[in-house]
Amino acid sequence: MEQGPIGIFDSGYGGLTIFREIKNALPAYDYIYLGDNARVPYGPRSFETVYTYTKECVFELFEMGCNLVVIACNTASAKALRTIQQRDLPPGKKVLGVIRPTTETLNNFTQSGEIGILATLGTVRSDSYKIEINKFHPHVQVYQHACPLWVPLVENNEINTPEAEYIIAQDLRELLSKSANIDALVLACTHYPLLSPVIERYVPNHVRIVAQGPLIASSLTNYLYRHTEIERLCSKNGTMRFFTTDNQRDFQEKAALYFGEEIEASYLKM
Ligand code: DGL
Repeated sequence: MEQGPIGIFDSGYGGLTIFREIKNALPAYDYIYLGDNARVPYGPRSFETVYTYTKECVFELFEMGCNLVVIACNTASAKALRTIQQRDLPPGKKVLGVIRPTTETLNNFTQSGEIGILATLGTVRSDSYKIEINKFHPHVQVYQHACPLWVPLVENNEINTPEAEYIIAQDLRELLSKSANIDALVLACTHYPLLSPVIERYVPNHVRIVAQGPLIASSLTNYLYRHTEIERLCSKNGTMRFFTTDNQRDFQEKAALYFGEEIEASYLKM
């Protein structure tokens, strides 16, 4: 098999918060980022739809030469990862998600043993976080809250608006009112770290906010170290390419803002 870039996939801009950290931790590899901006949000969609969209995008990345794809989207990890891994993978190709690597070390972030999960409707309804956390840390109590309006705020670049402030404050209040002992909040949607400046204003100081990026980056580093047969299939010229299923100019503008550097994007027809 020929070497290829590592693929990073998300329904939109959210995966950039994961990619940023992966790129910092593993700068030598080649990467292709694909955002399915034309069909975002995935959060409220059915299992079947999220599976179909995710599979299409993952296979586009395989077609472009990626041998390893990271699904940098919790909703797609919750609803499509397992089925793709079990049913669809062509020989030699690998796909990883973001939920398990996030949950593995979560007990390090809580003293009370009570954790709040902020996620999309799809992720919350799948109960994936509860299930995975209970596997690793059976004594940890998990409280979940869906924030269906947060992804549209990011996709439409309405982060710094009074509406964003109002919506975020209200969602946080709802989750935190479930238990006074919650001392860690997981931003379990890759879009949410882009709302961090607002989120931080409404979270009490004793509550830790956990973003996934660093956890995923260190878990991928570890994975490549342990799986030399896969690592060998990843090319290393330090390049990045970006693709969007929607307007490439819009993507370039917003992605530069969210990724922290100027990037060039290409349109991919789905
Ligand atoms: N960024 C994705 C996640 O981590 C979902 C966004 C969406 O609803 O499409 O769940």
